Amino acid sequence: MDLPKEIFLKDYKKPDYLFDTVDLEFQLGDEKTIVTSNIAVSPGNEGTSSPLALNGRDLKLLSIKINGTELKSDKYTVDPRHLTILTPPAGVFNMEIVTEIYPQLNTSLEGLYRSTGNFCTQCEAEGFRKITYFQDRPDVMAKYTCRIEGDKTLYPVLLSNGNLIEQGDLEGGKHYALWEDPFKKPCYLFALVAGQLECREDSFVTCSGRKVTLRIWTPAQDLPKTSHAMYSLKEAMKWDEEVFGLEYDLDLFNIVVVPDFNMGAMENKSLNVFQSRLVLASPEAATDGDYAAILGVIGHEYFHNWTGNRVTCRDWFQLTLKEGLTVFRDQEFSSDLGCRTVKRIADVSKLRSYQFPQDAGPMAHPIRPLSYIKMDNFYTVTVYEKGAEVVRMYKTMLGASGFRKGMDLYFQRHDGQAVTCEDFYAAMCDANNAQLPNFLQWYSQAGTPTVKATSSYDEGSQTFSLKLSQEVPPTPGQPMKEPMFIPVAVGLVDSTGEDMPLTSIYSDGMVQTLSNDGHPVFTTVLQFKKTEEEFIFNNVPERPVPSLLRGYSAPIRLDSDLTESDLYFLLANDSDEFNRWEAGQILARKLMFSLVADFQQQKTLALNTKFVDGLRAILRSTSLDKEFIAKAITLPGQGEIMDMMSIADPDAVHAVRTFIKKELAFQLKDDLLAAVTSNRSSEAYVFNHDSVARRALKNTCLAYLASLNEPDVTELALNEYKSATNMTEQFAALAALSQNPGQVREDALLDFYNKWQQDYLVVSKWFALQATSDIPGNVANVRKLLAHPAFDMRNPNKVYSLIGGFCGSPVSFHAKDGSGYKFLGEVVLQLDKINPQVASRMVSAFSRWRRYDETRQALAKAQLEMIISANGLSENVYEIASKSLA
Ligand code: PHE
Ligand code: ZN
Repeated sequence: MDLPKEIFLKDYKKPDYLFDTVDLEFQLGDEKTIVTSNIAVSPGNEGTSSPLALNGRDLKLLSIKINGTELKSDKYTVDPRHLTILTPPAGVFNMEIVTEIYPQLNTSLEGLYRSTGNFCTQCEAEGFRKITYFQDRPDVMAKYTCRIEGDKTLYPVLLSNGNLIEQGDLEGGKHYALWEDPFKKPCYLFALVAGQLECREDSFVTCSGRKVTLRIWTPAQDLPKTSHAMYSLKEAMKWDEEVFGLEYDLDLFNIVVVPDFNMGAMENKSLNVFQSRLVLASPEAATDGDYAAILGVIGHEYFHNWTGNRVTCRDWFQLTLKEGLTVFRDQEFSSDLGCRTVKRIADVSKLRSYQFPQDAGPMAHPIRPLSYIKMDNFYTVTVYEKGAEVVRMYKTMLGASGFRKGMDLYFQRHDGQAVTCEDFYAAMCDANNAQLPNFLQWYSQAGTPTVKATSSYDEGSQTFSLKLSQEVPPTPGQPMKEPMFIPVAVGLVDSTGEDMPLTSIYSDGMVQTLSNDGHPVFTTVLQFKKTEEEFIFNNVPERPVPSLLRGYSAPIRLDSDLTESDLYFLLANDSDEFNRWEAGQILARKLMFSLVADFQQQKTLALNTKFVDGLRAILRSTSLDKEFIAKAITLPGQGEIMDMMSIADPDAVHAVRTFIKKELAFQLKDDLLAAVTSNRSSEAYVFNHDSVARRALKNTCLAYLASLNEPDVTELALNEYKSATNMTEQFAALAALSQNPGQVREDALLDFYNKWQQDYLVVSKWFALQATSDIPGNVANVRKLLAHPAFDMRNPNKVYSLIGGFCGSPVSFHAKDGSGYKFLGEVVLQLDKINPQVASRMVSAFSRWRRYDETRQALAKAQLEMIISANGLSENVYEIASKSLA
């Protein structure tokens, strides 16, 4: 392997040459595809005469012409990664490059590849260089045309970005299509699709009256499954107009479904590409979770048209500029269409379970990384999810209308440009005349800040004091940290459970009077900017219970001095529903930690009755949202708890979580049964919040009950499984049953497979369910499934379901005998030969090996060392493995 090169943000330089127009021509063939690229080049800096270096990988160069004349071979150099034109002409010139590529051999799924026979491209981040030699970087923006030629029977549909301006038949059974995209774009947004596809067509009339044709392309048999995706797209288009004033800018919008895709989906200009799971849905075969994911991701990719495409990134370090912002937008979209609190809970849980561990491990990086070896490795929960939290903080501080002003200014200033995170920050500040000192630290410091809060009430002066202190932990390459700007949303709850009006706050030597256009203020956002700060609330008539970090106003770990009884009080009363849930979670975490300690000291485990009573009250509530109840009675995940231990102990956490679950099921059995029965419905499946919430509550309760593994509840779960008329309930019943090893489980799993073996998306769920199972000896089961005829190592979705699922399950993956580690080690090496991006996502499961006991450490480390010493390892896997060992 060539020594992998690390690339640094600080080394950014503008491109020497600009590309004004790019005219591409593809001759698609089964054995080879010929790509002709015609580029109008102009000097980037006045009078540049430097060589023009183009990126390229796995390309066969056929010819190169400058201004129509073949370039002699001593005028350029070619190496495995570049084509360099040594002395380009001064001024504007034309460059034509012809290359040959082999999409049918491309299993990396970047560049041009085949998926079930069809041609498809994936260019983000650096896949365009696998199609032709190019300055493959996002700050090179050009207008593109794309002419596609191919066999008419094999590839009846030929798609690219923009408008179709010409098409026709050619000799020899071929045909062609010519596409033109009027908007300048970076090459990562280029796309081509060709093959046998049919479309669902619909239309949307924009706010200015433009009629947009909408098409969703899939193999013919899946067309009926595209109606929810089409609904989602139209809702997204409407929402972006209403909330951000952003209108679609072309007459055509295409979505293509491909089974083989590395990521979720891709926002190519007017030609989004999705993996099947995120488009195709029917009530029988997709769950509420799938429906919600489709809504969110269709929205996400559509929203990129403005945040990513019209305004793009200067370089890949700025990825969060488009991803953090677009995730924030899709979260808000889903909130507005569903239930805000429940969506917030789901997003925060995701952050805690996946991003916090990353931020505390060897791969920790700021939302804008400072360096990378392979950009593919930085499409992370940090860049995406923490990035979205950072965007959310602007809105929390500036208010909804201030945030909108900032967005408007951002588009006004930067439409058509490739910009940086500072540009976004400047637009937010300038539009609001606001100063957000040291807020930019969020872009450069890694690690999750910990905030300690202590409070006291003084009856004499009727004041309530809140002292905050913060600490940002050291992360690789960043031993010392500066204090961050943390917005802390606070309310004070009185003894009757009502919010107190907040009138004035004293901090930093100043008194701030609070008012909201004459209305009382019940939640205020404290701007906490120093290592330590005290905030004193005036005119507080009685000792309040503070409700801190309402709505989770910053991506931090909060450690407060609230007592258990304060927390039970908030669980029952807080007007901020998010914080009601949070109070329950904090109580559950405390309980789990104390039981983990008991378990480790081999004490008998016992559940305190207050906790059971608290959950019973929630479960019995008739006023709370049902999906909220489902979330509130769900215990924090094993990963979340392990992440908070000094030495992660998967066995103890698993034992304790299982114990609490069963004990709750036992003590709340009647209420749980009642919830299952009263939340059945004979109506046909609809995807709306009320129905989703009803099913969520029913399914959560069923899982509790089935954990008891008693004949009556097993019977109940079996009945639910058999009588289910939609996948949400059928799969939940199957999952409930499969908690307990034994014949019932085996029979149900087999029955399910036999029913659904024709539907590979459902089969993937079946893989995932077994992969994530914590039944004893599951490593061997998963090994067996690897050889199952329905499994295919080349399909990322199946790999994520089976291998990814397995790695996410603490018990089997961290099996004390190392069998889980050994299994993953073998799989990673196999996968790396096929698809480095997917392999590198899988190897990440090893990255936190130092968090475990010495035995596990040694076993996991041995696998990492085995991987890193393998021949021909990809840069992708090398980067993760080497950083994990460092
Ligand atoms: N840009 C895509 C998104 O988040 C993700 C993606 C990255 C897809 C790289 C493919 C390759 O919307
Ligand atoms: Zn995105």
